[in-house]
Amino acid sequence: MSPHPTPGGPHPGGPSLKDAWDGLATAAGRQDPYPFYEAIRAHGELAWLKPGRLVVVGYDECDRALRDGRLHVQDAAGYDASVPGWREHSSLRAFTSSMLYSNPPDHTRLRAVAGFAFTPPRIRELRSVVEDMTDRLLERMAELGADGSPVDVIAEFASRLPVAVISAMLGFPEEDQVWFRDMASTVAVSTDGFGDPAALERADRAMDEMTGYFTELVARRRRDPRDDLVTLLTETHDGDPRRLGHDELMGTLMVLLTAGFETTSFLIGHGAMLAMEQPGFAERLRTEPDFAPRYVEEILRFEPPVHVTSRWAAADTELLGTPVPAGTRLTLIMAAANRDARRFADPARFDPDRTGNRPLSFGAGGHFCLGAPLARLEAAIALPRLFARFPGLAATEPPVYRDRWVVRGLDTFPVAVAA
Ligand code: HEM
Repeated sequence: MSPHPTPGGPHPGGPSLKDAWDGLATAAGRQDPYPFYEAIRAHGELAWLKPGRLVVVGYDECDRALRDGRLHVQDAAGYDASVPGWREHSSLRAFTSSMLYSNPPDHTRLRAVAGFAFTPPRIRELRSVVEDMTDRLLERMAELGADGSPVDVIAEFASRLPVAVISAMLGFPEEDQVWFRDMASTVAVSTDGFGDPAALERADRAMDEMTGYFTELVARRRRDPRDDLVTLLTETHDGDPRRLGHDELMGTLMVLLTAGFETTSFLIGHGAMLAMEQPGFAERLRTEPDFAPRYVEEILRFEPPVHVTSRWAAADTELLGTPVPAGTRLTLIMAAANRDARRFADPARFDPDRTGNRPLSFGAGGHFCLGAPLARLEAAIALPRLFARFPGLAATEPPVYRDRWVVRGLDTFPVAVAA
């Protein structure tokens, strides 16, 4: 018998836990991971893949794990202990100097340095900037599709808005935004682990290019300060490098650019897809001013851009009565927690009118997404305006998902914009 008994039991005849887990890495799992999550859930909301390796799919269990200060994110020391040679990969190294890959006390310090710029009141001030950017992108889409040609709503809209907004906040020149978007997308594959050495190699090269770019930009802002975040972070570093070291400055810029770009683009992409599949929602986005925030929250629950995160137990702890010994590695599948029937009625149904909708899509606890107010604002502005500008918006081909698990969303989605 396993030293870590799993609560509940598998359905007779269902896949073993190992098969359900391994299935996530198959083509079918990449296409649609949800059946595999349910196959894992059949073995328990907390399931031991092996001693020391826990996968969590329950809502309360995930929520508790994300808030447990004894469960740490993988930081540089954690990589040193578990991934030989990781320091050779600049794409991994850069992120470990950021808040996302730090634990207290470093995490507390790094989050405070950038956090002031992302508070809900600061973000609300951006509303008219986001509206203007949205309208400019929609105008461009209208021009591209005026002759009836299909327009890729991901490439031309969903992925452009987030990069335009964060670039404006950080102070990146407008002409570099498409380059940033492509670099950030290449770098992001390192979040999917070490499965594909060629992709990791590409991520390293992109990271080196971006670091070179940031180094130059920081030097420029030192000479010629502006009213932007790069200038503020540079001044913080120059004023007291113990508050923000050089690598940490680079890591902070990198994480602010990359953490919010693909994620928000996938949120908008999923929102567009679901409203085209069920035109009643497009109509409500156009006509009901209060509908967009509820719609966005339900997209986050139903098709979250970030499916999974991980933690390791720095000390013995427990999750709702299950002992979790120090050293345990945990995979927290927030996308599965968002479909926990104990928490959400009829969880596989997309229903923006559900009440008390609090998905775990931005995480919880100390690492709760710093950009959540910004992502919500962007999507709640972008989607109603998209369907108001193009009432006849329709797919010309089915959307294609990117072949990734951790950060999951649409790669392409061609649509017709002309009525
Ligand atoms: C729909 C869009 C987004 C989703 C689904 C999302 C999701 C997440 C999740 C799940 C985490 C927690 C990871 C963990 O605990 O392991 C996180 C952290 C973070 N996110 Fe987001 N994010 C989004 C947009 C943004 C935006 C727009 C920004 C900023 C511009 C941003 C910046 C960050 C940062 C800096 C962290 C690290 C916070 C910390 O470690 O304290 N995110 N995000």
